[in-house]
Amino acid sequence: MRVLIIGGGGREHALAWKMAQSSRLDRLYCLPGNAGIAALADCPEVDRMEEGEVLRWSLDRKIRLVVFGPEAQLVAGWADGFRKAGLLAFGPGAEGAALEGSKVWAKQFMAAHKIPTAPFVVAGSYDEARRLLEQRDEGPVVVKADGLAAGKGVIVARNLAEAEEALDKIMKERAFGSAGERVVIEECLSGEEASVLAITDGSRLLVLPAAQDHKAIGEGDRGPNTGGMGSYSPAPVVDAELASQVEERVFRPLLKGLAQRGIDYRGVIYAGLMIRDREINVLEFNVRFGDPETQALMPRLDADLLPILEAAARGDLGGVEAAWKEEAAVCVVMASEGYPGKYRTGEEIRGLEKLKEESSVAVFHAGTAWEQGKLVTAGGRVLGVTAWDRSLARAVEKAYRAVEKIEFRGCYYRRDIAHRALK
Ligand code: AMP
Ligand code: GLY
Repeated sequence: MRVLIIGGGGREHALAWKMAQSSRLDRLYCLPGNAGIAALADCPEVDRMEEGEVLRWSLDRKIRLVVFGPEAQLVAGWADGFRKAGLLAFGPGAEGAALEGSKVWAKQFMAAHKIPTAPFVVAGSYDEARRLLEQRDEGPVVVKADGLAAGKGVIVARNLAEAEEALDKIMKERAFGSAGERVVIEECLSGEEASVLAITDGSRLLVLPAAQDHKAIGEGDRGPNTGGMGSYSPAPVVDAELASQVEERVFRPLLKGLAQRGIDYRGVIYAGLMIRDREINVLEFNVRFGDPETQALMPRLDADLLPILEAAARGDLGGVEAAWKEEAAVCVVMASEGYPGKYRTGEEIRGLEKLKEESSVAVFHAGTAWEQGKLVTAGGRVLGVTAWDRSLARAVEKAYRAVEKIEFRGCYYRRDIAHRALK
């Protein structure tokens, strides 16, 4: 089978790496891909990353299965168009993707289907939002822009003044464009976060082992949020009993709710959870694989990825099973100095050849490129160095040993990935 993966980050590299091991794969393509993915898949140039263009291109190359990495194309409805053209698409159509594309829609959906989540209100104008904020007690509160904002549209405010600042940024300055037309104002929850993903064909579920991401730039989870500075799996905070609670109280009602609305959801659903005293709440849904969680999950999958994604895309996961290795995996992100703010690119990356012989280490590329025969940095997050071993402590040690062999000017990484689980 010919498979196309859409995207070009560490998540897509991890998916391509696992997909490339499939006995069912004839040819793998990735658009746009990156320097690391290009070693596993064809990453040809297309004129424009635009739906009609990519669809025509896929039909010409007789691609059968399209796997969507990022949310943008899903929210824009590409999966609907690809399915209509007869391709198998792994990813929800526009209606299902609203679970990530609209915070208001997602929160109202959760409330309607009794999925545990923080209490909230919705404001459709700046004045209304101000009024709602002023009616609250002076304490922490979370302000969320309604639409996609590249992971930056959620502001956890410690007090009213910070909340008003967030509101100005979202609704007045329109820092996230039309995502600022409405906001969700919600109660601030505390506890430990975890990501639980499930592959679904709309009615059946394959729940993946829990993972944990590290969103903050600094050690000890300090400083501004990033796209994710590292991840690991399993996440001991989600034990077997909590995992079954997530299935019963989050994923089952979610599928029921989607079905009631006639939404045919085929792909992966990501529940971002807050866990406190064994109580779970959903912070957010994403309609795609998590990044960097997927980089820690793919090495643990003890099954062929292709038939699983194909079955979900076909709408028939019946009989499909996925086994997971007992081994723990950890991914340490190497970033460019200055990220998530301004950073330089074009720095030469050295040392990757020293890791070629290592089994149970994979270096997934996020922001890299080839420039005049040299591998160089091309983004904020550059590499996801992933290692796996029979204990998390050993996997962490192995990952950091690998990280130390890689160099580029201005390289930054957190030294405490998986600290919560090792505690
Ligand atoms: P998102 O951009 O939707 O992934 O949310 C980003 C982050 O904001 C989450 O991973 C949490 O760390 C934080 N967050 C979102 N909602 C809440 C909440 N109700 N209470 C505390 N933190 C939250
Ligand atoms: N790791 C967070 C995300 O994928 O949204």
